[in-house]
Amino acid sequence: MRTPLIAGNWKMYKRISEATALARSLVSGLQGVDGREVAVCPPFTALYAVGEALRGSSVQLGAQNLYPEAEGAYTGEISPAMLVDVGCVYVILGHSERRQHLNESDEFINRKVHLALTHGLRPILCVGETLVERERGEEIKVVSTQLRADLRDIDEEQMAKVVIAYEPVWAIGTGHTATPQQAQTMHRNIREMLVHMYGEEVAESIRILYGGSVRSDNIDQLMAQPDIDGALVGGASLEVESFARIVKYHPIL
Ligand code: 13P
Repeated sequence: MRTPLIAGNWKMYKRISEATALARSLVSGLQGVDGREVAVCPPFTALYAVGEALRGSSVQLGAQNLYPEAEGAYTGEISPAMLVDVGCVYVILGHSERRQHLNESDEFINRKVHLALTHGLRPILCVGETLVERERGEEIKVVSTQLRADLRDIDEEQMAKVVIAYEPVWAIGTGHTATPQQAQTMHRNIREMLVHMYGEEVAESIRILYGGSVRSDNIDQLMAQPDIDGALVGGASLEVESFARIVKYHPIL
């Protein structure tokens, strides 16, 4: 059984006071919710304050990136050990915004996945195709290439700690959510890729989240799909009402 994970990616939003207020409201708004894991990924500057606000609750802390070295002269960067120190459990890696704006390569992302795991962090590894790639019918090839390169030399035991997030680039921040069927088709394909790479047992245990314009009015249909094991939520995770409603999804077909 895969425990669903709903994770909020706050991107480059929320100053410390706003982030803390949102975290506190989430803790009270999500009391009594069970059967699912919840995580929030604030910007680096708010990690400590949000971690304090979440203390004693079941909402977990995640970061949005790391630098793939234990420590060293890397001005401006944040190491995996620093993220563990501040209380992070998860770290988002390979987000399309970083692939696009910061030219992150699969090779670099692969190094990050290794370093995250070495330090006991659970990567939420993002993969997904652009609109042009989908229009060319290349979405499965693109996602498969990303997955193989980003997970290079990750063994079965390490893989058990990894979460995959399928985030079609054309659905991020656009309001154009993938239909539940489009998402399910890709999630099924990803699981089959994982079967080839890691065998049936590991592949069946890995959570595959969907991300891209997830909102309170489409989460119920998405979560009814057999291979959708949660969501990575951007814009709708910035307000307590919408994020709490997403966490409290009721799957409907
Ligand atoms: P939106 O939910 O704002 O489309 O963002 C999705 C995303 O990029 C989550 O990582």
